Amino acid sequence: MRIIIGKDYAEISKKAALIVAAQVVLKPDCVLGLATGSTPLGLYRELIAMYERGEVDFSKVTTFNLDEYYPIMPDHPQSYHYFMYQNLFNHINIDPNRIHLPNGMADPVEEECNNYERLIAEAGGIDLQVLGIGVNGHIGFNEPNPGLSSRTHLVDLKQETIKANSRFFQSEAEVPRQALTMGMGTILKARRIILLASGNSKAEAIKKTVQGMVTTECPSSFLQTHPDVTLLLDQEAAALL
Ligand code: GLP
Repeated sequence: MRIIIGKDYAEISKKAALIVAAQVVLKPDCVLGLATGSTPLGLYRELIAMYERGEVDFSKVTTFNLDEYYPIMPDHPQSYHYFMYQNLFNHINIDPNRIHLPNGMADPVEEECNNYERLIAEAGGIDLQVLGIGVNGHIGFNEPNPGLSSRTHLVDLKQETIKANSRFFQSEAEVPRQALTMGMGTILKARRIILLASGNSKAEAIKKTVQGMVTTECPSSFLQTHPDVTLLLDQEAAALL
């Protein structure tokens, strides 16, 4: 695992953007795995700025997002679909046909999960996966559990995740109780992974990710088994290393 510690959030966002942009420059038709949450916002702002300066062309890039609440309408302001268009896709020259997010209204849900896996495989697999991390070590919405699903699946959210994510909703009651997420196997099949973490609240999860036992009780610990993972941490997130 490669660990890059930046002095603050702005610095890690810039470095992450350089890595993503380099991937797109090297392979213009690459497949990016993208994440939501507040952490990648700085990265997306940097990518938009690079695009506006003519430094990077997204026209041939394909994207797959990690996860989506379930059930949720795509135009719901808290859906990850809405988030991605607002914070990235509406501002760059990506082809809408190459954008993929799990459908938060899919029924039957099994079919949607199988379809998502198939689409990733048909696109040639993910070249670079961007990750954030939950305070409990979840990645995507793979929550700590006695067992983890390998493939894209429907998951029950943990109370602590519902609480943590309620800051974006009017109330905790409004947070969907389930989500669709790529599985740990889907994520670990990506050829390269970068994980961004910022702030004190992530320090414990980062310590377990890097130094803890590989256990389904901390899904991010499985990143230790991947050959090309880079953590981009600010000083607070790296404080316990
Ligand atoms: C959600 C997302 C994760 C994200 C996590 C952390 O639960 N499903 O992909 O990593 O939130 O979010 P934040 O970056 O806002 O702390």
